[in-house]
Amino acid sequence: MSSSLGLDAQLTRYVRGANRAEHPALLRCRLETDAMGDVAVMQISPEQGAFLQICARLVRARTAVEIGVFTGYSALATMLAMREMHGPDARLYGCDISDDYTGRARSYWQEAGIDGQVELRIGDARETLGALHGEIAGMVDMVFIDADKTGYDAYYEAALELLRPGGLVLFDNVLWSGSVADPERCAVDADTAALNALASKVRDDERVDMAFTTIGDGVLMALKR
Ligand SMILES: C[S@@+](CC[C@H](N)C(=O)[O-])C[C@H]1O[C@@H](n2cnc3c(N)ncnc32)[C@H](O)[C@@H]1O
Repeated sequence: MSSSLGLDAQLTRYVRGANRAEHPALLRCRLETDAMGDVAVMQISPEQGAFLQICARLVRARTAVEIGVFTGYSALATMLAMREMHGPDARLYGCDISDDYTGRARSYWQEAGIDGQVELRIGDARETLGALHGEIAGMVDMVFIDADKTGYDAYYEAALELLRPGGLVLFDNVLWSGSVADPERCAVDADTAALNALASKVRDDERVDMAFTTIGDGVLMALKR
């Protein structure tokens, strides 16, 4: 699990205590993913999960797309909020390249009773998003982008096609542990350069209203006009 950039352990504990307790399936997902070792850093933090849930509520999300599912924490957090609002009509389309990670996700979704409302698309999201376009273009309320960083620009363009006006796209890790502000890192690291370029693009993009926030490792939010 990741934690918010710049917060020490004491403050992180405080923030976690200030949020509501996680659903038991979210807690199990987090603890079992932690036990997987170094890859656990890919998982969003519980406070980011709470943030995604309030975002879903703000846009009254019924249909969501997630690019980068991993072991399913963010998808589950989002779906729990959407199910409370929309019951069986809520649906999340999850894109990932890994059968192994998403196989683990299914067990948490089953525990929470939302498994039947999540549709997984396994494969490079550049392709699976193309197929989704034919099915749900203009119908999506919220898109969470949390996969390979060099793909973010393509995922942004696809998300704008999928979203309804007033729909929200969120990008995780836009601070990339702070490296995006370092010109030397941008010059030598493709992920850092891609995130840096994306931030400028979204800032100057008249198709959206936007906010670059410092939640977690940075969450960039763009609301389709
Ligand atoms: C940072 S993790 C996602 C974490 C997840 N949102 C969570 O809350 O636990 C990134 C995921 O993106 C997936 N991924 C990487 N490249 C991808 C691609 N080209 N298309 C789809 N998924 C990809 C990886 O398999 C991995 O599961």
